[in-house]
This record gives sequence, structure tokens and C-alpha cells, in this order.
Amino acid sequence: PAGRDLAGRHVVVSAGGTREPIDPVRFIGNRSSGLQGYALARTAVARGARVTLVSANVALPDPAGARIVPVGSAEEMHKAVLAAAGDADAVVMAAAVADFRPAGYRGTKIKKTEGAEPEPIRLTKNPDILAELGRTRRPGQVVVGFAAETDNALENGRAKLARKGCDLLVVNEVGENLTFGRPDNEAVILGADGSQTEVPRGAKEDLAEVVWDLVAARLGAPQAD
Ligand code: C5P
Repeated sequence: PAGRDLAGRHVVVSAGGTREPIDPVRFIGNRSSGLQGYALARTAVARGARVTLVSANVALPDPAGARIVPVGSAEEMHKAVLAAAGDADAVVMAAAVADFRPAGYRGTKIKKTEGAEPEPIRLTKNPDILAELGRTRRPGQVVVGFAAETDNALENGRAKLARKGCDLLVVNEVGENLTFGRPDNEAVILGADGSQTEVPRGAKEDLAEVVWDLVAARLGAPQAD
């Protein structure tokens, strides 16, 4: 019964997983399906928000009513999210953004040479979009991150929340088919105010609704529709 509590708000959601090009035909990617980000976008539209969905490499139908900005790599996502975040009331980084990319993009396909060892792929750091949002956000803007952890999820989550300067961090355990590509999810949402909200296993929509409940509470009184 959240109603249209996000009416008059602009929210930015990132979804999917970035692909970091090695050469014109190859990339380094990850297992994110985009389901959680798309559920966040759909539920935000239903709650009355204007939604910008920055979507990386997702094979899902466009959510009705959202503005979709397709991107490929982390650098493209960086540009698109920062541009959209300018006037946003909330930014939710549900995308799996590659921490590293190949250092030297090859303009032509890497070939195998008979008898020669393959060349190693050197990596360089990508910009941390969430950390930058945490540092540069305007007063009142709510910034939400996701943390996929395989071990010590809560302890790592608390440290990550502080490091990235976000208001809320949705911590999931990943691995062994717990999250990626599944329609359901379970998580603990940590708040910078020390709060901890447990969301039992359920549809990714259900988790999305709890995220928006927490965001709406931090945004304060609803705007006129
Ligand atoms: O540091 P880690 O990758 O675990 O952080 C995950 C969170 O940070 C997610 O919300 C993800 O969207 C965001 N992230 C980012 N830019 C990166 C790496 C992660 O915004 N380069």
C-alpha cells in the first residue's frame, strides 16, 4: 500500500552487467541478468516516479514508462549515470559494474600464433561510480548500492557502505545459484544510520518495494502528483 509515494521524484536505476572490451569481438563480462534492476525500475514507475534506467547488456523487455539508456562498458555507464544523476532524487546502483577493464584495447582481433604463448591481458581500474555518487551527490539525494558477497557478507557490507558513502547498501550472498538469473532474491539492507532491514527470500519485486520504502522514508514527504 505504498501508493504513489514516489510521485514527482526522479530516480535513476542502473541494471545488468558491464562488458569490458578486449578486442572487437571479445569482452570480460559477469553473470548479472538485470532482473533486480528491472524490478526496481518497474516498481518505481508504479509508485509514480520518473525513472531513468541505465541498462547494460540485458535481454529483458523494456519496462513501460521508464526512460532506457543502453550502455555497454563501465566507462559508458559512468557517463550515463552521472549525467542522469544531476537532477535525481535517488540513484540505485543495481548493476554489476566491472572493477577492472583491459588496459589496452586492441582495434583488431587478437590471433593465435602457432607455437607462441598467448599474451596476458593487463587490467586497469574502472571508475567507481557509486563511490563518486557518494562523494558528489547534492544534499538530500539518496544513494543506494548493492554488494554481492560470497563470505562475511554483513561485515564486508558495513565496511563497503562506509567506503562508498552511500545511504543504503543491499547486501546479497552470491554464488551457488543464490541470486544471478533467478527471479527471487534475499538480502539484508544496511543503512548509514545503523539500521538493518532483513528481506526474506522472495520475488525480486518484493525486495525492490522494500528498497523504495527505505528510499521514500529518507526523501521525506511525498510530492504533489
Ligand atoms: O565494490 P563492489 O563492486 O562490490 O560494489 C558494488 C556496488 O558498487 C554496486 O552498487 C555497483 O553498482 C557499484 N559499483 C560502481 N562502480 C564500480 C564498481 C561497482 O558503481 N566500478
